[in-house]
Amino acid sequence: MIPRNTKLKSREIQVPGDKSLSHRSVLFAALSKGKSKVTGFLEAEDPLHTMSAFTKLGLKTQKIRPGEYEFESPGKDKLVGHNVELDFGNAGTGIRLSAGLICGLPGVNAILTGDDSLKKRPMGRIIKPLMSMGASIAGLGEKETAPLKIQGKQLGAYKYESPIASAQIKSCLMLAAISSSTELEYSENILSRDHTENMFRFLGNKIEYLTPLHFKISPPYVLNGGEFKVPGDISSAAFFLVLGVLAKEGNLLIQNIGLNPARIGILTTLELMGAKIEVLNRRIECGEPVGDLKTYPSTLKKVNIPEELIPSIIDEIPILSVAGLFTEGGFEIRHAEELRAKESDRIHTMVSNFRALGIEVEEFQDGYALDGTSKHSENVWASLKTGKRIPILSFMDHRIAMSFLILKALSGFKLEIDETSWIETSFPGFEELLKGCLNE
Ligand code: S3P
Repeated sequence: MIPRNTKLKSREIQVPGDKSLSHRSVLFAALSKGKSKVTGFLEAEDPLHTMSAFTKLGLKTQKIRPGEYEFESPGKDKLVGHNVELDFGNAGTGIRLSAGLICGLPGVNAILTGDDSLKKRPMGRIIKPLMSMGASIAGLGEKETAPLKIQGKQLGAYKYESPIASAQIKSCLMLAAISSSTELEYSENILSRDHTENMFRFLGNKIEYLTPLHFKISPPYVLNGGEFKVPGDISSAAFFLVLGVLAKEGNLLIQNIGLNPARIGILTTLELMGAKIEVLNRRIECGEPVGDLKTYPSTLKKVNIPEELIPSIIDEIPILSVAGLFTEGGFEIRHAEELRAKESDRIHTMVSNFRALGIEVEEFQDGYALDGTSKHSENVWASLKTGKRIPILSFMDHRIAMSFLILKALSGFKLEIDETSWIETSFPGFEELLKGCLNE
């Protein structure tokens, strides 16, 4: 285990708005005829790309103040675009959800593209079911990857049993059905985040649940716009939760965090590991639970992370793995092959960076394991503080860069992260906030 010496200021902090909800607020505003409003919008590259894509198709946007926007859409049937190129940057959620929505818009033909990381990410998982709905969509890259060429058209009713518990696939198909005013029956094997369902209901629609993992939506859909309130992103708070629990002293109060049950796996897992985190001021906003999170320095021990928790911690596994280095017994994650389909192949990224630090890690197809308690590791920790700087490769992945910056703050290791600009995709101001928490 890495020795812990970091002292924090006890303070209240806020993290930027939820990325998943920010993307969805633009998408539902575009589908709705008339005005919508959002507060707490994440003004980071990923959701801003989604916003500018729909602006090109006819959504009017006006910034009122930071995080607050007014939208006005002509309605889904009047969104148009001829041979437009829409750039989604680094955002898998942006491109996949927008692809579904655009497939159902007969007035639009578009190329959806992004950066080199996005162009490597699997798109067959949405192309196949969308084509079964009657969509005209093709992945122009190698192995059916982006750029995606779409000619919007009327889609048909569809029933899909998803082999992957993915909110991006689920939301993509829901948005395709909604934009095309057609029926969708959908089931998954483990509940993935259900923000699309919540926002759809918040606008006045019904979802018929056949089981908790199997539902049906049917037109006519209510799309008259709404006022969306976006809370802070628990996936961004996760970095400060780990910092707070692993600090030697100090408490962080992270305010206004979305606590959707399908997103709080980070709290469940840290608590199973022995962390003390208090949830205060619980409330419901826009159909989503919200609260404040207070961290206490805690001693962590290794636990088995059950497969059912994986979808709800999928974005937090890099930072949980960092916590694992400070955990009695080490850390193991399995059943998480989906990590290979994220902004980087996060199994490879975490394993190769840990190995660069001299940490022994066993890699599996669906995860990895490390035992931070061996004698060998203790010598490694000492030399990492005093030896030469160790380069950390971020692989165009914001969460990898942030996870290793937290490791650096907690351990005092001489790490040099090759590129931190990816953090702008989800968490502008991360490094300043981190600095402001440290009691140096
Ligand atoms: C997201 C779903 C998750 C997550 C991503 C955001 C969403 O992906 O990793 O960061 O907003 O729907 P999958 O559902 O594909 O696992």
